[in-house]
Amino acid sequence: MPAAPTDRHEVTPIATERLSETLVMPARSSLFHVIDPRVFERSLLDELCDLATRVRLLAKTDAGARTLHDLLPTRRAMLYFTQPSTRTFLSFSNACHILGMRTSEIRDPSTSSEVKGESFEDSIRTFSSYVDVIVMRTKESGRAAQAAKLMNTIPRPVPVINAGSGSDQHPTQALLDIYTLDRSFEPQGGIDGKVIGMMGDLKRGRTVRSLCYLMKNYKGVKLVFIAPDQFAMEPDVKAYLDQHRIPYTETTDLASVLPSLDAVYVTRMQTEWDTAGESRAVDLTRFSIGERELKLLKRDAIVMHPLPRGPEIDPVIDQDPRAMYWRQERNGMWMRVAVLIKIFGAEPRITLPDL
Ligand code: CP
Repeated sequence: MPAAPTDRHEVTPIATERLSETLVMPARSSLFHVIDPRVFERSLLDELCDLATRVRLLAKTDAGARTLHDLLPTRRAMLYFTQPSTRTFLSFSNACHILGMRTSEIRDPSTSSEVKGESFEDSIRTFSSYVDVIVMRTKESGRAAQAAKLMNTIPRPVPVINAGSGSDQHPTQALLDIYTLDRSFEPQGGIDGKVIGMMGDLKRGRTVRSLCYLMKNYKGVKLVFIAPDQFAMEPDVKAYLDQHRIPYTETTDLASVLPSLDAVYVTRMQTEWDTAGESRAVDLTRFSIGERELKLLKRDAIVMHPLPRGPEIDPVIDQDPRAMYWRQERNGMWMRVAVLIKIFGAEPRITLPDL
């Protein structure tokens, strides 16, 4: 088995007004830190989607599940989630266990020596003394990038995976979203050329911000942002789309654009960032999907949502074949298995026949 990546990595700061993340570029290994979606190229996205499919199919049999379980039994992961999470935490935890990895976790910072005044850097360095990868979610933007930069300066760096950083980025969610789009559009030639709507609180939703960044890898994609004016997509993401010549339009009128969409990616109001109840001012009925909206959507279009959902998706549509969010959620586990396999260089040991 190839050794775990231990190379030093070059750090390339990006100057943007809002984005506090930093690009952390692997120097030699193909995937080390997972911090910023902008570093992902099409070839790596295709490889990860293919790998996710292989592990998903392999896990269907006991023999295949045992093969996966024997893949990384000597590797250990730290799950440092100091901001609430259900699916990202559970899917990473179970992805590790599928691969035979052991996990340690801190979910409540009051149980960590940070309450005794230990610095963030010293805490992260301490985690790295015991494990082979750190998966972290924080309320603050930029923390995962900070941890990755620290790793690049110490003798035993371990990869850092950003599992959600403030309202800024959620790169592995974007990867699983790409996997979901890729799987869903397989009969229609893939993601290239598709019209993808993103709806809801686009200003403070990190999932849509990260997904926008990955769109540079697909030809002919058009984005349609459907949001209340006060929660429109932020200028830094729009500038990135302009820079990469990805066309986008903005509207507050869902019904007028629904028939043109191949996918509608619905998000909830990010009420946790409210300072004075701003979310309550939004008439959510204008930014929601129910039976009436489904009637306007193409028969082969899909409805996605990173979950958890609020009232913006009526559960009555869960049984519609276009409702993709529960499959999307499960895809997250397979994509995170693929990411871990790739980080540890174990992909040559996934021996399914070519798909
Ligand atoms: N999609 C997502 O990040 O969900 P959790 O907050 O439950 O992890």
